[in-house]
Amino acid sequence: MKFFIDSADVGDIRKALALGLCDGVTTNPSLVAKTGRAFDDVLKEIVSLVPGPISAEVTATDAEGMLAEARRYARFGEQVVIKVPLVVEGLRAVKTLSEEGIKTNVTLCFSPVQALLAAKAGATYVSPFVGRLDDISEDGMAMVADILQIYRNYGFATQVLVASVRNPIHVLRAAKLGAHVATIPYSVIEQLAKHPLTDSGLKKFLADWEKVPKAKAR
Ligand code: G3P
Repeated sequence: MKFFIDSADVGDIRKALALGLCDGVTTNPSLVAKTGRAFDDVLKEIVSLVPGPISAEVTATDAEGMLAEARRYARFGEQVVIKVPLVVEGLRAVKTLSEEGIKTNVTLCFSPVQALLAAKAGATYVSPFVGRLDDISEDGMAMVADILQIYRNYGFATQVLVASVRNPIHVLRAAKLGAHVATIPYSVIEQLAKHPLTDSGLKKFLADWEKVPKAKAR
């Protein structure tokens, strides 16, 4: 299972790289806005740091505009993946990009049939947003299970990139289902490492270590 970092913050990306937990990066316009930086500068810096796939999202709403943005971002580095929204114009753009050999990540996927269309358009990745479905009292991970079943039924090569991950349970369920990738905010990466019994166990070991007689310095 690949771990991508869902962030445009270079500090977060560096921390995840240091842990060996950054197989790739996903950005989106909201994450870029949080950095307060120009996207070209952010993308250039991420490309210099991360050898794995880096998603850069288009903001045009028509296929021609999306293609122009995509071809420009693709020149930033061979690891750049073009993130395209799951709308009809987006699917048209994905089909052309896949014919041109440019990798795509079809984003804002909220149903298994939308994911089927993304795969048929030739998407490299599809991003089902699990947290946002949970937010409206639906089961985001059930959508992921359906997408994986459909892709296996027909042998689609499109990889399922679980997005809108909000907590460790999302990561656990994605891993149990065999999703190819989870894109995870750095804060959730840190939560994955935590367990209260690890903390209390370590505290006890360190307290007991204080009771162990120390050898005299020679
Ligand atoms: O990259 C897209 C995505 O992961 C968004 O997450 O938390 O804004 O729903 P969220």
